[in-house]
Amino acid sequence: MQDQLSALLAKAVAELPSLKSRPEFEATKARYVGPHGELTAVMKQMGAVPKDQRPAAGKLINEAKTQIQGLLDAALIKIDEAEIAAQLGPSVDATLPSPDGGPGSHHPLTLVREEMCRILRKVGFTVADGPEVETEYYCFDALNTPPDHPARDEKDTFYLPAASRFANVSKKNPDEKYLLRTHTSSVQIRTMLKGAPPIRIVSPGRVYRRDTSDATHSANFHQLECLYVDKNVTVRDLKALLDYIFTSLLGKDTKTRFRPHYFGYTEPSFEVDLTAAHLPKVKKPWIEIGGCGMVDPTVFSAVGYDPEVWSGYAFGMGLERLAMLLYGIDDIRYFYQNDLRFLRQFA
Ligand code: DAH
Repeated sequence: MQDQLSALLAKAVAELPSLKSRPEFEATKARYVGPHGELTAVMKQMGAVPKDQRPAAGKLINEAKTQIQGLLDAALIKIDEAEIAAQLGPSVDATLPSPDGGPGSHHPLTLVREEMCRILRKVGFTVADGPEVETEYYCFDALNTPPDHPARDEKDTFYLPAASRFANVSKKNPDEKYLLRTHTSSVQIRTMLKGAPPIRIVSPGRVYRRDTSDATHSANFHQLECLYVDKNVTVRDLKALLDYIFTSLLGKDTKTRFRPHYFGYTEPSFEVDLTAAHLPKVKKPWIEIGGCGMVDPTVFSAVGYDPEVWSGYAFGMGLERLAMLLYGIDDIRYFYQNDLRFLRQFA
């Protein structure tokens, strides 16, 4: 029996480590330890072994069994690993340089945003930031926008479920709702509540409206807001700043004009148009570019500024609209599709 077991083990040592596939493994395993296997056959001989030799024979058989099982386990692990490696394909050297071509470039919206901030920094504005998740107070109430104003309708604004919690976005009133800001004007309020005038900020950022996407609308777009608060600020200062911004960005022939309008947070309020005949693809003599006005006294009162002492102007405009004018882009959706053929034109 000992010779038989030694021969069997020698065969297993030679054969099992070179098994390549699962079917091969199963068939070979059956030949050793299956009901008709060779080891099983040796074990069946135990009945014929004289009683006094049985403990020694049993020990030999158990040892052989353990060794063969060890070889089988190792063979199966090897087959498993080979199968996974085959699925993963050739190994990758993660330390090699990326095959992507060259460094990236700035998105056209980033280019326009940075250029506007640069133009405004030159005349003393600093960049301010505000959260994209806002509350009704900062987005509407403090901006003198009453509860029944159409901009606050569920059809136009994304409100978050009442149970939502944002520990980093402070609420003014415990029962007001969170929403995705519909304009960057909310940053005016957050900035004024933080400190005393004079204030001169520019705040670019993402805004959200329940619009259906088409060539000129997107539920998510970008605005740029400016606020200036000081003593004796006039409409003339506002007009001068807008003229300065647009001639800097679009060329010295660019003119601006104001059309009377209504915004709750400014009085008087205007829509701003600019001449753009010299810009690519523009056919109309005047293009509407944003809204502006002199900060309404109710807004100053809401943030604790004395409206008798302080005056100011504010304006807001869409960054996509500006970039479309500047670069002659005729569909807003290009900005969001990440098509390299589009993006490379701004590299
Ligand atoms: N918030 C306005 C909008 O989204 C734009 C605007 C108008 C901003 C007048 C202002 C302003 O600061 O004074 O259409």
